[in-house]
Formats: sequence, C-alpha cells, structure tokens
Amino acid sequence: MCGIVGYVGKQDAWPIIYEGLRRLEYRGYDSAGIAIVNGQGDLQVRKTVGKVHGLDETTIANQLQGSVGLGHTRWATHGRPSHENAHPHIDCQSRIAVVHNGIVENYLELKQQLIDAGHSFYSETDTEVLTHLVEEGMEQGLSFQDAFRRMGNLLKGSQAISAVLQGHDSEICALRLGHAGGIVVAHADGQAIIGSDLPALLPLLKAESNAGQVGFLETGEMVVLTTAGVQYQDLDGNPIEKEPRLVTQEEVLVDKAGYQHFMLKEIMEQPQAVASAMRERVNFETRQVVFPDFPLTSQEIADLERVVLIGCGTSLNAALVGRYLVERYGGLPAEAESASEYRYRDPFIGPNTLVVSIGQSGETADTVAAMQMVKDKGGRLITICNTEGSQASRIADGSLYMRSGIEVGVASTKTFVASLTILNLLAIFLGKSRGTLDISTTQELVDGLTKLPRLMGDLLADIAPYKQVAHEYAKFDKFLFLGRGIIAPIAYEGALKLKEISYIHAEGYPAGEMKHGPIALVDNAIAIVALAPKDSLYDKVANNVKEVKARDGCVLSVLTEGDTQLAVDVDHALYIPDAPEHVLPMLVTVPMQMVAYHIALLRDRDVDQPRNLAKSVTVE
Ligand code: G6P
Repeated sequence: MCGIVGYVGKQDAWPIIYEGLRRLEYRGYDSAGIAIVNGQGDLQVRKTVGKVHGLDETTIANQLQGSVGLGHTRWATHGRPSHENAHPHIDCQSRIAVVHNGIVENYLELKQQLIDAGHSFYSETDTEVLTHLVEEGMEQGLSFQDAFRRMGNLLKGSQAISAVLQGHDSEICALRLGHAGGIVVAHADGQAIIGSDLPALLPLLKAESNAGQVGFLETGEMVVLTTAGVQYQDLDGNPIEKEPRLVTQEEVLVDKAGYQHFMLKEIMEQPQAVASAMRERVNFETRQVVFPDFPLTSQEIADLERVVLIGCGTSLNAALVGRYLVERYGGLPAEAESASEYRYRDPFIGPNTLVVSIGQSGETADTVAAMQMVKDKGGRLITICNTEGSQASRIADGSLYMRSGIEVGVASTKTFVASLTILNLLAIFLGKSRGTLDISTTQELVDGLTKLPRLMGDLLADIAPYKQVAHEYAKFDKFLFLGRGIIAPIAYEGALKLKEISYIHAEGYPAGEMKHGPIALVDNAIAIVALAPKDSLYDKVANNVKEVKARDGCVLSVLTEGDTQLAVDVDHALYIPDAPEHVLPMLVTVPMQMVAYHIALLRDRDVDQPRNLAKSVTVE
C-alpha cells in the first residue's frame, strides 16, 4: 500500500505534506514525492528513491513555494522503486499531478489507447495512465473536476487517487474505488487536508484544539477540496451528504515516547494492550466474559456448527492459536486459514458457520476479499481488528476492536497479543454461551487472563537476558523455531518476526514434525529455538530437544521458571513465569519479539521499516 497526502489552504503546503508523508511512511517507503502548485509556470515536483527524508536532504531553501499540493510515499507494485516510477506522476504538459494507492487492473489496455492517441509515457507504473486520462478529458473540453471523474469511471480495480492542476491553485480532487485504500478528509479554518490515514490530518487537528471532524470516503465517492470547504459527490457528479466523525489527537498521534524504535515502544505497551482488549469485556466481580458488542444472539450462538479463523502474516499466526482456543474452550470445530488462499477456495460456508477475520489494519486486501466471499455465501462474519471504520469492520456483522492504539512498527507486536487476548475471550464466551464450559472453569480461565498484564510487565521489566541471548545468536544465518500444540503458532510467529526485521532465514515448524524432514538441517550452523513452557505437551517437546542435542545442534529454549529438567540440556534459556496454558502463547511471544528486535539491532537493520515490507498490504 502507499500513502497519499494533499493540502489546500493558506500556508506553505510543502512542510504540511512532508510531515504527513513522514507519518504515513509505515504504508510504504520505496520512494516519495511531492508536487506543489503555485499558479505560475510548470508544476513543481520533487522526488526521491527510498524514504521520505530524502526529500528534505536539500535544505529548507529548496522547498517548493505554494499553498496547494500532493505527496506520496510508495510501496512498489508496478515498476521497481526508481525516480521515474515515484509519484506524483505528471502529464505530457506538466500541468496535472496524480498520486495513487492501489492497482489499475485495465492499465495496459488504457495505456495502449492513450499511446495510440499520441500520449507518451516515461514510467513503468499503472499510475501514469491516470494522469494522461485526466489530460485527455481536459483536451476534450471537460473541466478538471469532470475530467477527473471521467477518469474514475474508466478504471477497473481497487484504488484511491488524488490529483491537482497547475494554474488551478485552490483545488484538489480525490476519489476512492473499491477497498484497496481509504481517503480521510479534514477541513478547518480555510484549509483542507486529505490523507490515506488519520495521522496525515494532524496539522489540522492540532489547530482545532485537539480534535477535528473527519470525513471518510466510501467506494465510488469523490471529494473536491478548496479553501472554502469540502464537497462530496458520487461518480456521476451528484452531491453527497456525509456525516463527519469527531476524531481526537490521541487517535492519530504517533510518537516514539523516547524509545529508539516504535517496535520497542509497542512491545513495551503490550501489558496495556492486553488490558485494553479486556476492558468492558470482562466482569471482574463475577469473573465472566460479557462481550456487550457481540453481534450474534444467544440462539444464533447455540446454532453455530463451526468456526473458521482467517488472517494474513502475523494475524494468520493469531488465527492458528485461535483454532486451539475455540476447539478447546469454545467446544466447536475450528479451522484456521490463510486469507490469501481461502479467498480462492470454494469452502463450505453455511448460515451456521462463524468466520472470524483477524487483522491489525482491517485493510489487508486478501483478508477483505475473503470476508466478502464469506458474506456472499451467507456465513456469519466477525472481525478482530485494530482500526475503527476499516473495510473489515464495515463488511463484518460485528467488530471486536483490539483498542491497542496505532501500531507503527511494520512488524506487528502489540496487536498480536491483543488478538490472542480477544480470541481467548471469544472462545470462553462461546463455550459459556453454548454450555460446554461451566462457571467455575470460566472463572479460572478469566483469572488467568486478568493476571496477564502483570506477568507481561514482569517479563518486560528486565531486558538484559534478551540482549545477552541476541549477542550469542546474532551470528547464526539460519534459525529453526519449534513449538507444539498451542505454542506451535508462536514458533511460526517467532520465525516471522526474526525474518521480517533481521532478514535472517528462519523457519517455524511444529516440533513433532521435525523428525520428518527439518532434522536433516541440524548441524552447528543452525540455531534451534525450542519453545518448551510447562504445558500439556512439555514432555514431547523435551524429547524433540534431546533429538536435536544428540545431533550437536545449538538450542535456545524458552522455559518455565524453575524448569530444571530441560535447562541442563539446552545451550541457552529464557524464562517465562508459570501460567495456565491458555495464556502461555502471549507470554512466550515476548522473548521471541525481544530477541528478534535485538538481533536486528546488532545486524544494523531498519527495525521499524524493514526492506520490501509495508504495514498492511492493500493490493493482492
Ligand atoms: C503485512 C505486514 C505484516 C502483517 C500483515 C497482515 O504483510 O508486513 O506484518 O502481519 O500485513 O496485516 P493485518 O493488518 O491484516 O494484520
């Protein structure tokens, strides 16, 4: 996905757009660019390959003057990261600048038509056709707004687009098609900003004493921003009334709070994230799960026949933990599926199938498409999501929000443990509602969860052991993470975190499967991370560790405090407190994150914005 920012007002547009791009950089950082309109001469455009700060490397004196402009930070889809492929893209006469998030599915066909009509192209992107389409409309005598709308009507695919016109110094057009990218809009005091996400709007929210009214563009809607106000319309040009939502600065503020990286800050926020996920969903007096926001009636819950959990990346790993929880405590058959595969299958989904989508952003294209398929087939749909108003929350029958606050580090951390907390609550709630869990078991499970913020806080109080282990293991170029049962998905997540931020090859595997292949990898050049807390499969994992040690493998283990059995067999150990099985996944996650973080630091990696990744992927 990419980040779009646009400003029209009375101040210099460059610093406002630049600040917005910095705040949206988590959406992609392959290249960045800004176009400023000043009413005279050519459109002024600056681009850089790589991160947004490249735009600022030249001094303040090189900033472009003008009070209307657009900016873009790119996650490359069509065309490699290069100066030519960086947005904004401009037309043949350098009058129209366009920024784009998403994919123009019919761009080859449109490009050929435009070339036949005499337009010449300089980039490999699909985006460039948009600029030429607006230009073509204007050549046919349409106004800028009408030409922009005509362009929107010619496109196939899912995207957000914005454009400005040189010499037309007080107007920005933007539109949204499908679900690949949102557009948020704020207007105050003769100024207006659009952005792909709320943090871009901060300069206006600041001005508006901590809060502001924000409009969210729906699919098939267009907006025109001027200093006089904001006009919404459909793609036929009919005006639309839109109810803005009040958004506070806290919702959009992104700050490292003194930490070296957002990722570390977000790891440290995990006790709070777990507590927030439980807020109002646990009655601490009766020790029961209450879920006031649950979208199914008691009868509908009783009628459920199965649960399918879907997600991508870290959220898929959460779904895999959820499968154990729903089977064990919810008393229902459960499956976990990667949304990117599920959307192309032909699964049986009946009215008594509950599909739970998991996603930090609620905008991952594969997850949203899989949800739409479930909806079309008549299944019941819930989303566990961190972003209010996201696509996932709009498609679902109901949303169980994580309430973790914005997560900026590209590698998910606090939203993973928040997902696991909500999945626990969901499983307990289903089991209790369906009569497969009795009151005292429910109370014990809730007790375990309520201790979690404190136990996680204890794990995060002393980071020295993680640093020390990272020093021992940073030299390895291959890692195999092993876990079993409810901890197997944490092995997958441990491997994912390490590969995402350190670029080390890491594989997560169910420990019991090791003897069927991966054991062939064991030698002194691979690090084995064996997750072996005291749970119902501890003895089995202990045997797997012994199999590795018998072959001279180097083993780092995560063990329960007081473990004397395995501690003597392994090369290094990190400890978690003794805790019931359903909360172990969250506790075991902490050392995985911390070791990955410190290994990445030792390898001098860009922890918050690892290469080739983006915070959420809104294209297929
Ligand atoms: C991207 C990110 C991953 C993330 C995945 C799913 O690939 O790089 O870290 O886990 O998207 O994101 P979601 O917002 O759906 O949880």
